Amino acid sequence: MKAVGLVGWRGMVGSVLMQRMRDENDFALIEPVFFSTSNQGGKAPAWAEGAGPLQNAYDIDALKKLPIIVTAQGGDYTSEVYPKLRAAGWTGTWIDAASTLRMKDDAIIVLDPVNRHVIDAALAKGVRDFIGGNCTVSCMLIGLGGLFKHDLVEWMTSMTYQAASGGGAQHMRELLTQFGLLNGQVKGLLDDPASAILDIDRNVLALQKDPSLPQAQFGVPLAGNLIPWIDKDLGNGMSKEEWKGGAETNKILGLGVGFGGSREVPIDGLCVRIGAMRCHSQALTIKLKKDVPLDEIDDILRSANPWASVVPNTREDSMRSLTPVAVTGTLTIPVGRMRKLSMGPDYLSAFTVGDQLLWGAAEPLRRMLRIVLG
Ligand code: HSE
Repeated sequence: MKAVGLVGWRGMVGSVLMQRMRDENDFALIEPVFFSTSNQGGKAPAWAEGAGPLQNAYDIDALKKLPIIVTAQGGDYTSEVYPKLRAAGWTGTWIDAASTLRMKDDAIIVLDPVNRHVIDAALAKGVRDFIGGNCTVSCMLIGLGGLFKHDLVEWMTSMTYQAASGGGAQHMRELLTQFGLLNGQVKGLLDDPASAILDIDRNVLALQKDPSLPQAQFGVPLAGNLIPWIDKDLGNGMSKEEWKGGAETNKILGLGVGFGGSREVPIDGLCVRIGAMRCHSQALTIKLKKDVPLDEIDDILRSANPWASVVPNTREDSMRSLTPVAVTGTLTIPVGRMRKLSMGPDYLSAFTVGDQLLWGAAEPLRRMLRIVLG
């Protein structure tokens, strides 16, 4: 049984990862070694029977002993530890949720239901760094992978509706705190059926604009609002999240000259934060290479992998099955609102929703671990 170092297992992504690994009985295949950045010598989680005390996650000698390390500790940890570990001669497999190493030439972005061929070719070449993709990209590709598999996409725009969890656990708490405070602000008026809605609205806006409303994480209120910018400003009008959409999709699929292919598929759009909890949604406009009938598109999407599902393009189905509330906590990636747009028969609309902590973060990592274990 291979020893596997686990770092960042207590955080939000790490906790989801541990739960999925327990659900899928992954721990029966490994000897887990739990690391901590702050609690060396502490107890391993109670459910991990027989695991030794927590080891220091910055101890290169301790890390070096392991053939496989899986980390969800975050980008700062990767930047600090990964170069030292490789410099110390470690040749093990590094499986990481953080974006730090994603675009490194010899790192693979893992999403095996979509790019198993890329992963297998890399393993055969001795690649040792396997990194989970951006959550929006991974969820989109599980849903729409079939269109890429059949080489049907000429270009695509993705307009996102991203949940608070993408920022982190504190961001989710802040959103809920804001919702509560806004409700509290107008509770008396809401309870009175005779109160005027514009009074309620004025009171809500007053608190949203009051600097005392907690907003340290997002910088502005998110409750009852949206934020049309995610991640860094690249200085060219594009956010880093928007750049990732095109760059990572092409790298995952092995398209484009830089990624071993011949032609990059242009993918671009605007990324927007909304007040959902942990599901990222996106509205897509897809320019197909040819006119493909909608029923064929349904079959192509459904047969690409077991998690993509097609939601009929009706009001009732969309409201019931194509929302963050419907999808949260599941591995299903529904794709709906598909119709041919008025621009022409090769212009397809679609809307997709995915749990950004499952396919968006934890799931590709545990599946990569299984692949390495063989
Ligand atoms: N960058 C994403 C977001 C999360 O902020 O929603 C992780 O990929």
